[in-house]
Amino acid sequence: MKSPYFPWVSFVFATLLISISMAAEAQSHEKFLQCLSLHSNASSSISKLIYTQHNDSFSTILASSIQNLRFSTNDTSKPLVIVTPSHASHIQATIRCSKQHGLQIRTRSGGHDMEGLSYVSEVPFVVVDLVNLRSVDVDVENGSAWVEAGATIGELQYRIAEKSRTLSFPTATCHTVGVGGYFSGGGHGPLHRKYGLAADNIIDARLIDANGEILDRESMGEDLFWAIRGGGGGSFGIVLDWKIKLVPVPSTVTVFTLTKTLEQNATKLIHQWQFVAPNLPEDLFILLTISRANPGEGKGSIQATFTALFLGRVDNLVSLMAERFPELGLVKQDCTEMSWIQSVVYLAQFPAQNLEILLDRTAYAKSYFKVKSDYVKQPIPEFVFKGMERWFEEEEGGGVLINLVPYGGRMGEIPETETPFPHRAGNLYNVMYVTGEIEEILGIQKYINWMRRFYRYMTPYVSKSPREAYINYRDLDIGVNEKDETSYGQASIWGFKYFKKNFEKLVKLKSLVDPGNFFRHEQSIPSI
Ligand SMILES: Cc1cc2nc3c(=O)[nH]c(=O)nc-3n(C[C@H](O)[C@H](O)[C@H](O)COP(=O)(O)OP(=O)(O)OC[C@H]3O[C@@H](n4cnc5c(N)ncnc54)[C@H](O)[C@@H]3O)c2cc1C
Ligand SMILES: *[C@@H]1O[C@H](CO)[C@@H](O)[C@H](O)[C@H]1NC(C)=O
Ligand SMILES: *[C@@H]1O[C@H](CO)[C@@H](O)[C@H](O)[C@H]1NC(C)=O
Ligand SMILES: *[C@@H]1O[C@H](CO)[C@@H](O)[C@H](O)[C@H]1NC(C)=O
Ligand SMILES: *[C@@H]1O[C@H](CO)[C@@H](O)[C@H](O)[C@H]1NC(C)=O
Ligand SMILES: *[C@@H]1O[C@H](CO)[C@@H](O)[C@H](O)[C@H]1NC(C)=O
Repeated sequence: MKSPYFPWVSFVFATLLISISMAAEAQSHEKFLQCLSLHSNASSSISKLIYTQHNDSFSTILASSIQNLRFSTNDTSKPLVIVTPSHASHIQATIRCSKQHGLQIRTRSGGHDMEGLSYVSEVPFVVVDLVNLRSVDVDVENGSAWVEAGATIGELQYRIAEKSRTLSFPTATCHTVGVGGYFSGGGHGPLHRKYGLAADNIIDARLIDANGEILDRESMGEDLFWAIRGGGGGSFGIVLDWKIKLVPVPSTVTVFTLTKTLEQNATKLIHQWQFVAPNLPEDLFILLTISRANPGEGKGSIQATFTALFLGRVDNLVSLMAERFPELGLVKQDCTEMSWIQSVVYLAQFPAQNLEILLDRTAYAKSYFKVKSDYVKQPIPEFVFKGMERWFEEEEGGGVLINLVPYGGRMGEIPETETPFPHRAGNLYNVMYVTGEIEEILGIQKYINWMRRFYRYMTPYVSKSPREAYINYRDLDIGVNEKDETSYGQASIWGFKYFKKNFEKLVKLKSLVDPGNFFRHEQSIPSI
């Protein structure tokens, strides 16, 4: 039977539905707040740690750690409540009350999720922002530290350096990244060729699970402890803190940054770098960045920037480079010796003397950006890099950076199944494509389209079946136009790219420890 169509009926009906759901939302959020105050422990009142949209500082708190402005617009969905716990019991109460009142939780540590998943959701939700849980407790004698999940990499490095000039931890170059998300996804950076990922050096952790129970390594068991070290944040619970094994570094290290234009054989050097960087001794890490030579202008050619950290003195570096990469033409004057902690600041792209910048959680300008990633197992032919020249001549090429992150060394010795992070032996390097702009949201779509086309251009030259990707460079494009061939649903498409075979074990564990799929987001491990 065909029913007549009265536009006003559907209009009234829709309005009714919206107001019912809004009332229900307001009610569940009122009840949620009551529940929190009930569960809250008298000696540490939670009310000063809760923000609703009625609090003047709600928007400021929400925006505070958002890195990607694409997810900070008027149209972006907002949490009903932000909780900023200062004690584990606050997290436990938030989990129990959210569960009881049908709200989802998004956990935020440093807020650097590439797709904003730590603070955006399409269903009614609460943000647990760990900004008040960021202490770092360094035990120099034992060579270990406990770090709370809300600390940034900068805070961690600074606190270690306060206690020792020769101990550190493998972290990222960008110091405002939070250890909560970074460790959860593996965590690569300038020390991984020597010591492996951040996740490879975690020795204990405390996790609050979907029942609100606090588990440590012993009580969670080795399988769950495996899963939270590389399986990606937001799937298994809320990590409260991590115990890490510190690693030795020399008190003096050497750095250089060298940029080569097309006239200076940039394309040839990029091609050669692939044979050199992944095979260098573990003490030398050379990151390669491809970008446009004059990004501000309408047109331009490409340039290659080599940024290096050497765990040793300048003379040794110069002779090593003369032997392994003479074409780069490195001379002593290109290099600077500095203390370990200064090199952390230098690689974060600040003046090396400015150590205090490591404590600044908002040191970088924010922008609208999009990221994709790849893994390369065979050196890419030179003509492909030559072909990039015309891509960078397009207007959108001005907003792009391509980072080639060398693997090899220790990374190749750790078995693929040791942690959920599977991109080990056989990978020459990781590719990170970033496009963005600081001005306005309106222009970003054409940059994103450019990047999607460029990603297709790279298809023949990068890993295949699956085309691997790095979970910390989260990309919601993955799988959008692909068909699922397994029993895990759409999740298997990104699941196998991020984790390869480890995905199956992650799903098994998730189904055991969080069968109700309480901790979830667009790319969380599914519970089946
Ligand atoms: C400018 C920039 C530079 C970067 N550089 C590097 C780099 O050099 N190397 C590298 O490996 N990565 C790098 N990344 C990626 C970064 O590692 C990931 O984005 C990481 O997930 C960010 O962690 P976060 O705590 O800051 O992010 P958040 O947005 O807070 O969290 C990211 C994800 O983890 C979950 N999560 C956060 N905290 C917890 C917790 N305590 N318990 C459980 N789940 C949690 C969130 O819900 C979300 O799903 C960079 C990112 C940016 C924006
Ligand atoms: C209550 O909070 C205080 C400090 O914030 C803490 O020391 C105490 O253990 C908490 N009590 C419970 C029962 O969680
Ligand atoms: C937000 O407002 C409520 C109600 O006025 C108040 O009780 C609470 O303390 C405020 N939160 C913060 C963090 O100030
Ligand atoms: C976002 O909302 C604010 C406050 O309502 C308004 O002042 C601003 O112009 C809006 N921005 C855009 C881009 O619409
Ligand atoms: C640190 O302490 C742990 C546990 O107490 C012990 O097993 C380990 O050997 C110690 N490590 C060092 C380097 O002292
Ligand atoms: C570029 O490479 C060629 C041959 O490989 C070499 O002769 C030339 O000197 C190089 N140019 C620069 C600026 O290094």
